[in-house]
Amino acid sequence: MADVPKIKVSAKPPIRTDALVMLLDTDRVDTDGVDWGYLDRIGFEAKPGTHVMVPGDGNLVRILVGLGDRAEVTPDTFRRAGAVAAKAGAKFGRINVDFPDASSELLDPRAMGQALAEGLASGAYSYDRYKSSEVKLRDIVVVSKLGRELSSGVQRGRVVGEAVAFARDLVNEPGGSATPAALAKTVAERAMAAGLGVKLMDEKAIAKAGMGGLIAVNKGSTQPPRFIQLTYQPSGGSQNSDGSGAHLALVGKGITFDSGGLSLKSGDGMMTMKMDKGGGAAVLAAMCALPALKVRQRVSAYVPLTDNMPGPDAQRPGDVFTAHNGKTVEVLNTDAEGRLVLADALSVAADAEPDAIIDLATLTGAVMVALGQRIAGLMGNNTDFSGQISDAAKWAGESVWELPLPEEYRSALDSPVADLKNIGGDRYGGALTAGLFLSEFVPEGMPWAHLDIAGTAWSDSDTAEAGKGGTGFGVRTLLRLVERFSVPAAG
Ligand code: BES
Ligand code: MN
Ligand code: ZN
Repeated sequence: MADVPKIKVSAKPPIRTDALVMLLDTDRVDTDGVDWGYLDRIGFEAKPGTHVMVPGDGNLVRILVGLGDRAEVTPDTFRRAGAVAAKAGAKFGRINVDFPDASSELLDPRAMGQALAEGLASGAYSYDRYKSSEVKLRDIVVVSKLGRELSSGVQRGRVVGEAVAFARDLVNEPGGSATPAALAKTVAERAMAAGLGVKLMDEKAIAKAGMGGLIAVNKGSTQPPRFIQLTYQPSGGSQNSDGSGAHLALVGKGITFDSGGLSLKSGDGMMTMKMDKGGGAAVLAAMCALPALKVRQRVSAYVPLTDNMPGPDAQRPGDVFTAHNGKTVEVLNTDAEGRLVLADALSVAADAEPDAIIDLATLTGAVMVALGQRIAGLMGNNTDFSGQISDAAKWAGESVWELPLPEEYRSALDSPVADLKNIGGDRYGGALTAGLFLSEFVPEGMPWAHLDIAGTAWSDSDTAEAGKGGTGFGVRTLLRLVERFSVPAAG
């Protein structure tokens, strides 16, 4: 599995290093020894996301990374610069990052340090399990006189970066090897080592609990399903005066491979469908980071795991199942399987009576039509809670955009034979009818939000920030959300 490089902060540059990174802004502040005349001639303007390599002292390579306009820097500027630096430095074993200490006039060192380390970890990531070995970035020293504040931010950022890398590994692992049982084992081991409570349910326990949706989707597979529950209990104080702490539930779609089932996808359509566990991966990876981040809220996670296969006993279009909350569903398209397993998971999560539930799911192609591959769709039933999520996403540098849950579309889910059918009337507004379907499995009045990450969980292009494959989208937003979470106001 991918190792995140060591990242430490030091006031003095270490003597042994392979490359030196400098972060440059367009105002040319803090740039000792940089030949701006040369950079002007080659047209390097220090714009965000750009870099050049130039010779340094002796054998050293200098990597100059752009921060953009000094007046416009945000934590995300450092996240992006970190990713560019680590990606450019990937072929070196050790790099120094000269931190522009003057930027502490503009931003909190803690926030900058965290974002920089998140970026460094992300840029250094590669999914190399099935690659013959290559040189990897192992050691990063951030050279700065900002001290404790910057370094505590950097350490937090590294923990977050590790969680993102874990989520990306889970998403990138092929459907044939990341079976529900194998994935559950990997996660359970990591979660136990982190000090979380782990409850792993096998097919018998799942049936006994009445999770009809998970069983229905699993019917076409030779691989048994799993249902993972993780719990995090803050040690010591919690934020509420009654000592209970706010309780947030996380739910993630864990389809280890989505062939569509009998409503089979095309070959092209299923090419990337190992990514259909992206929501579950983000939830599980974020959970494993909570102890190290010393989060003060109570957090529980619920992830149903199965593949969606067209085997001989696969559910047939027209079949009806009963979900964990007792509602019956007519399955007219077996490729709309995510909402079936989430129906059970949301209802199981609700049984614990958390203060709010958020689910993450690679749920619909329709959300990609609406928002593309860089913005996730947010739907919810509580303004305060959705606001907390938008704020967290903004801080984390992940884009979300709120979409409606229109009451007038609800009738598209009416079934002549069951309480609901699993698809809307036509393909228009497909992200919204999917959201409306999920809302049927959350009790009236319980704050809930749904993030459709079908577009954002996977990257087809090799950008500095992400690189091809699983992105780990949602991990950073979730971690910021749980840190700041407070019981949502009604409405
Ligand atoms: N996992 C897919 C959604 C998806 C599509 C994610 C493309 C990432 C990229 C989901 O299970 C699915 O197949 N949804 C269908 C729903 C439809 C049948 C109502 C879709 O979006 O086509
Ligand atoms: Mn599907
Ligand atoms: Zn799916």
